[in-house]
Amino acid sequence: MKQVFLLMIFVLHQGVQVYSQAFVPNYDETNIPMYDLPKVLLNADGSEITTKAAWEKRKEEILAVFASQVYGESPIWDGEMKVTELSSNRTAIDGKAIQKEIKLTLQRDGKAVDLYVLIFLPRQQTPAPMFLGLNFYGNHTLTMDKAVLVPQSWMRNNADLGVENNLPSDKSRGARMANWPVGDMIEHGYGLATLYYGDIDPDFDDGFKNGVHGLYDSPRTESSWGSVAAWAWGLSRVMDYLTTLQEVDSERVAVVGHSRLGKAALWAGAIDSRFSMVISNNSGCVGAALSRRRYGETVGRINRSFPHWFATRFIAYNEQEDKLPVDQHQLIALLAPKPVYIASGVDDQWADPRGEFLGGAEALPVYELYGKRGLSPEEFPPVDRPLMRQIGYHIRSGGHGMLPYDWQQYLLFANMHWK
Ligand code: GCU
Repeated sequence: MKQVFLLMIFVLHQGVQVYSQAFVPNYDETNIPMYDLPKVLLNADGSEITTKAAWEKRKEEILAVFASQVYGESPIWDGEMKVTELSSNRTAIDGKAIQKEIKLTLQRDGKAVDLYVLIFLPRQQTPAPMFLGLNFYGNHTLTMDKAVLVPQSWMRNNADLGVENNLPSDKSRGARMANWPVGDMIEHGYGLATLYYGDIDPDFDDGFKNGVHGLYDSPRTESSWGSVAAWAWGLSRVMDYLTTLQEVDSERVAVVGHSRLGKAALWAGAIDSRFSMVISNNSGCVGAALSRRRYGETVGRINRSFPHWFATRFIAYNEQEDKLPVDQHQLIALLAPKPVYIASGVDDQWADPRGEFLGGAEALPVYELYGKRGLSPEEFPPVDRPLMRQIGYHIRSGGHGMLPYDWQQYLLFANMHWK
């Protein structure tokens, strides 16, 4: 009996090994498995939710499920933050903006982590509404100004930017300016605050120890916060700082992110009510895309490639998406009634554009409960034809990236809701 059992375990294990080596993403809409999405306006006992008050209560429960089963539970910040101004330029962006680099030192229990935040503010119109977003390669990649520092924390491969030397260096200065059109934001009267995501938590699996994880010694559990939650938590610390600035209209701060940082922006918007708008650019699997579709990247695949991004508990749903107590449309529903923009790239099939659209559209009943117009699941738009309501969506020509076209829509969307 014992041998049979061990043999079964062995066969199962081999099966999983083979699966992970031979993962072939599904890109065929006719091969989407049949699935039942959890209904957004249902209580845990199956009763219907018909009032905002009932939803507000249910919202807390769903948030807790996302924390314990998917992203991990983030600690409540109880440390101190020291602010140091590193540089300031009152004639940035052809004299139209004030640019500052600030070091936020998070101190707790004798330990410290430094976050370097680059801020641009329109000179003419303050207090200014702001975009707040993490960047992938360092603040210096957004500007040619040599005063802006190259990150000294763990650095994402510089080779990704076409720079031969892999170490953080000045060679990549300005390399991401097209992805962050600061001049256009300033022109519209908006500011930008950005920081390198590796300052908050280095993007590799080290058992949840470095970055802001290191500020806490709490023993690791199945529901401990992964890196996506840590990045989102770091965004909240920057928000703590922004709320102290007179030049910032902290009632109008949009949290924005691309790809893994789009996942972080969505989670930041869900856990921190101070963000009044959320923008998810190509956030894909465990971002805006519905997990149950298993189109492109899947839960099993993402957990195997990036075991440090989510709570360890989330691994239980590898190839078991139907057992997930929540799907990603419920994450968007948690953001209601805030304006949310979701963007896809038509050649970024790995991120499942239609699944990203449906993630937003299936949140509709909750937006309607607040008297807001969302998207309906039947109206997936053609390429380059944005839809803008309380939820915005576009599928742009081209692939994975946060491009000028995407920003043009985000600026229009911000104008629509903020002006
Ligand atoms: C990988 C990963 C995605 C992620 C992306 C990114 O492609 O599979 O889930 O969004 O990296 O962050 O660029």
